[in-house]
Amino acid sequence: WPRTSERIDGAITIGGVDVRDLVAEYGSPLLVMDEEDFRSRCRDYRASFHDGDVHYAGKAFLCREVARWIMQEGLGLDVCSAGELAVALSVGFPPERITLHGNNKSVAELERAVVTGVGHIVADSFEEIARLGYLADKHGVRPKVMIRVTVGVEAHTHEFIATSHDDQKFGLSLSSGAAAEAVRRVLALPSLELVGLHSHIGSQISETAGFEVAARRLAGLLAQIKQEHGVVLPELDLGGGYGIPYVDGDDAPDIKLIAESLREIVAHVCASAGLPLPRLTVEPGRSITGLAGITLYEVGTVKDVEGLRTYVSVDGGMSDNIRTALYGAEYTARLASRSSEAAPMLSRLVGKHCESGDMVIRDLYLPADLAPGDLIAVAGTGAYCRSLANNYNYLPKPAVVAVSGGQARVIVQRETEEDLLRGQL
Ligand code: LLP
Repeated sequence: WPRTSERIDGAITIGGVDVRDLVAEYGSPLLVMDEEDFRSRCRDYRASFHDGDVHYAGKAFLCREVARWIMQEGLGLDVCSAGELAVALSVGFPPERITLHGNNKSVAELERAVVTGVGHIVADSFEEIARLGYLADKHGVRPKVMIRVTVGVEAHTHEFIATSHDDQKFGLSLSSGAAAEAVRRVLALPSLELVGLHSHIGSQISETAGFEVAARRLAGLLAQIKQEHGVVLPELDLGGGYGIPYVDGDDAPDIKLIAESLREIVAHVCASAGLPLPRLTVEPGRSITGLAGITLYEVGTVKDVEGLRTYVSVDGGMSDNIRTALYGAEYTARLASRSSEAAPMLSRLVGKHCESGDMVIRDLYLPADLAPGDLIAVAGTGAYCRSLANNYNYLPKPAVVAVSGGQARVIVQRETEEDLLRGQL
């Protein structure tokens, strides 16, 4: 739950605003962002990585207002498409604090990054290194480049979001020598400035060991580069992926401790190779925005399937949160609009889409007196819900509202029927 959420007079409040007032004013479903929660997590990260850089991973949830929060809190931004870059630039985000990622950036995307002076471009393939060299020459600039290294860590998370074992599409493998070859190729192009190495092992990871192994291997490659080329690269970008607690019993890494151990590991490897400590960057997305967001839904039907469970249908579903269907993700939810003394009933929280996979929460207990019109709040929907949202069954995407200090304001408008028909002949 967001740091500012409380239960007052039976209803949940967030940022000092009663969820019943939010739905009355802005409709349902509604994504509510606790601005103070979001900003305070930015500050926590900056304090933990005080001698490095924190780049928020925009893919977790980006809109113009969130880009402003990131900018004001002094973080950098990681983008992985021209669209994400456009959102950032539209609010005056300093391009030198932006990193561009992606395993298949288009030539147009690379060119835009080169021309706008994006601070770091992370090269993910040999083709891309050649394209970058060409574009830098063409525009007479010398962009800062990092190499995305696949360090061979088997991260303990869902297969779809693990990214550092060898058999997947991202990066250049350390074990096969592809990463070392990429370093040679970038160093051979005078129009590119190789500043460091990058690794991202996956997402929603709660065990710290994987991050530590990755940091050790990446620092090891720095040492190898010094030996082979006599070049000292000044930066390491250790990616994101720090997990958050979605349900009771979920572990989440302590960011302060991780920062200390990563720094120590890199310092140790570098010191033994006679290298100074490189500047460390991390790229958290979920762990900054995830718990800041809740989704409010209105209950439409309560259907008892005899002897099995009760199906509680709400007015959204896999169009505003596809994570349950896609990854078997788990969430916590509560009756948000009143208190109830009724006994808990085994329920399944489902959406309104035309398939049975449309579940928000597979198994949960809700009060037995639940009725149409009640509001349900689902916690932890601030990351990868809005950014993965879709218009399945022509549902308009919900509004996003920011709350802070007892005030609420729309930061992304609810889509309308007109929006849904736009562009169709
Ligand atoms: N850096 C890079 C290069 C990444 O690819 C990602 C996430 C991050 C940073 C941020 O990771 P985070 O701190 O948010 O875990 N849609 C999936 C998650 C996909 C993550 C993709 N990359 C989900 O809903 O769980």
